[in-house]
Amino acid sequence: MRKVLIATDKPFAKPAIEGIAEVINDAGYEMVLLENYKTTAELLNAVADVDAMIVRSDLVTQEVLSAGEKLKIVVRAGAGYDNIDLVSASEKGVAVMNTPGQNSNAVAELAMGLMVYTARNQFNGTSGTELRGKRLGLHACGNIGRHIARIARGFQMEVYGFDPFVEKSAMEHEGIKCVDTAEELFSICRYISLNIPANKDTTKSINYRLLEKMPKPATLVNTARKEIIDEDSLLRMFADRPDFKYLTDIAPDCREQIAENYPGRYFFTPKKMGAQTAEANINAGIAAARQIVGFLEKEIRTFQVNL
Ligand code: 3PG
Repeated sequence: MRKVLIATDKPFAKPAIEGIAEVINDAGYEMVLLENYKTTAELLNAVADVDAMIVRSDLVTQEVLSAGEKLKIVVRAGAGYDNIDLVSASEKGVAVMNTPGQNSNAVAELAMGLMVYTARNQFNGTSGTELRGKRLGLHACGNIGRHIARIARGFQMEVYGFDPFVEKSAMEHEGIKCVDTAEELFSICRYISLNIPANKDTTKSINYRLLEKMPKPATLVNTARKEIIDEDSLLRMFADRPDFKYLTDIAPDCREQIAENYPGRYFFTPKKMGAQTAEANINAGIAAARQIVGFLEKEIRTFQVNL
C-alpha cells in the first residue's frame, strides 16, 4: 500500500486533516501524520518508507530527500517552495509541486488586518488614521497581491502595483494602477505590501535605496519572507525616519534591536500566521493530496516546480 506522509511542524486545522485523509484513503493509500515534530531525526525517520509527502514551511533538505528512499513526490501545501532543495529533488527524480492560490486570501486578509491595526495605533485608545484614500503599493501582484487589491479597494484605498511577471490586464482587472519600476512604486505609496517570493534575485532586495523613497508617514507590510529584507537597511530606516513602521508575519533577525529601540512602530506575529486559517489549510491541504493522487495514478504534473 502506498503511503503519504503529512509532515507539518505547524499543524493543519483538524477539518483539513480530515479532508486530506479522505482523499488519500479513497485512493487506497495510507496516511501517516507527523505534526509538531521537534527534531530532524523524527522527520528522517518518518520519511523513510513513504511514497509521497505533504509539507508546509518544513525544511526538505538533501538529507530529508535522501532518507526518503521510496519518495516520488513532495507537495508544498502553499505557494513558496524556498524551503525545498529543488536541485537535490531533481537529482533524485523526486517531483516537487506547490498549490498556488489556495492560501492566498488568508495571507491577504492578514496583510489588511496588520494595516488596520497599525493605522488605529494598535487599538491603544488614541486617535489613529483611516486607510480610505491612502495609496497602497503592491510589490508583486500574483494571487496574494490581487486578493489584497480586491480587499483594499473595498476600503477605498488607491491601489498601485509593480509586477513584471503578471499581465497588466490582469492587474488592471483588479483595479490596480500599474507602474513600471519598484522605485516608482515606493516613491508614491505610503503603504507598501511585499508579496514577492524569496529567491536569489529577491534576497535583500528591499534595501534603503528603495525604502527611503517612501512618502511620510510610511508603513511597510511583509507577509512574504524574512530573507527579502536587507536588515541593515531596515534598521537604518527605523533610525532615520521616525515616521516609518514595519509590520511583518516573519520577524527579522534584528527583532530585539527593533523592539528595544522603536516601541509602537513595529508588529511581528509570534509565529508565521498568514496562511493559518481553517479555510486555507483545507484548500491547500486537499489540493496537495489530490495532486499526489493525480501524479501517482496518472502522472499529472500540473504545478510541478522542478525537473
Ligand atoms: C506560503 O508560502 O504558502 C505561505 O508562506 C504560508 O506558509 P505556511 O504554510 O508555512 O503557513
